[in-house]
Amino acid sequence: MTVLALETSCDETSAAVVRDGRILANVVSSQIALHAEYGGVVPELAAREHLKNLVPVAQSALREAGVTVAELDAVAATQGPGLPNALLVGLKAAQAAAFALQKPFLGINHHEAHLYSPWINVLPAACRQNQSHDVSLPSQPDAGSTLTADFAAFQPNVSLIVSGGHTLLVLVASELQHRVLGGTIDDAAGECFDKTGKLMGLPYPAGPVIDRLAESGNPAAFAFPRPLLNDPNDDFSFSGLKTSVRYFIRDHQALLADRQSVCDLCASVQAAIVEVLVKKTLRAARREGVRCVTASGGVTCNRALRRELETACRRHGLALRLADRTLCTDNAAMIGVLAERKLRAHAPLTALDEEIKPGWALA
Ligand code: KG4
Ligand code: ZN
Repeated sequence: MTVLALETSCDETSAAVVRDGRILANVVSSQIALHAEYGGVVPELAAREHLKNLVPVAQSALREAGVTVAELDAVAATQGPGLPNALLVGLKAAQAAAFALQKPFLGINHHEAHLYSPWINVLPAACRQNQSHDVSLPSQPDAGSTLTADFAAFQPNVSLIVSGGHTLLVLVASELQHRVLGGTIDDAAGECFDKTGKLMGLPYPAGPVIDRLAESGNPAAFAFPRPLLNDPNDDFSFSGLKTSVRYFIRDHQALLADRQSVCDLCASVQAAIVEVLVKKTLRAARREGVRCVTASGGVTCNRALRRELETACRRHGLALRLADRTLCTDNAAMIGVLAERKLRAHAPLTALDEEIKPGWALA
């Protein structure tokens, strides 16, 4: 089965072609540079960029995959959640394509797609050069790598989805069956990285910059709160941490002029966020009795989070599947992989006149 998938829920325009679990192409056009000037995503600009880029991105995905539209068996797109005008572009384009091609259409929940992205294996090209340690947002695996969904390896898991807009803990009891355990009651983890970074004068998005600076900093230099760490629920809250960083910076302005202190500050803020994410994820996994933890979403690019999850899972004898760094940020490959899986499971199709679902919560 060959599926064309489109993703335009936020600031990445992406198209992918997936055939029998194999990702033949995953083209991502990021708008980060455009929005950086404004310190965050400007919804109207995002929608206009999607309009401009979607057709060329889809054409290059088909070209790269060596697939013609006549060979497509289905079309899929992100239906929600996300920015309304951004979602509209991808959803309506995909529905129109499905109509013209007389093929089935499936609207996909963006978070559900993240949920299964850790089951996509990225096999590097045989001659891959030395691995990059650059933390600028990766959008594409190295040329020649093979991306394949590995559902044969699936096992029940507790999954952490952490992005700029969401922090979710989900129990995935079996394939395509999940239950949300908890989420953020205010700021998302990525938002906390971005907003505290802004307070330090770092460029948007600050998450990758904090990641890089924190590598040379002392995570125990400054003590910041670990919100809801010991609360007996699976919810998160990061706005108190952001406020605490705001007051700390107000009272220690001079620190920002010293590079080492900025690195220490980054490491300390990152340590607070990572500790909460890792401890609450591990606690939920042990309580639910699963043997596997997975993680996805933009913040899963963070090296300290990846390291700490690895250490904690090893200590507790749990398997860990982290989405490949190239698939943590938004991409259509994960939309296509889930769409194909659902089509094979005979999930109900989405009508061609169905609307976007900007607030579509994961059940
Ligand atoms: O999943 P994503 O691309 O978009 C949303 O759906 O929000 O996530 C973007 C978020 C941003 O907040 C960004 O700062 C954060 O992911 N992020 C990181 C890192 N790379 C991206 N946060 C911490 N460390 C990173 N290396
Ligand atoms: Zn996302």
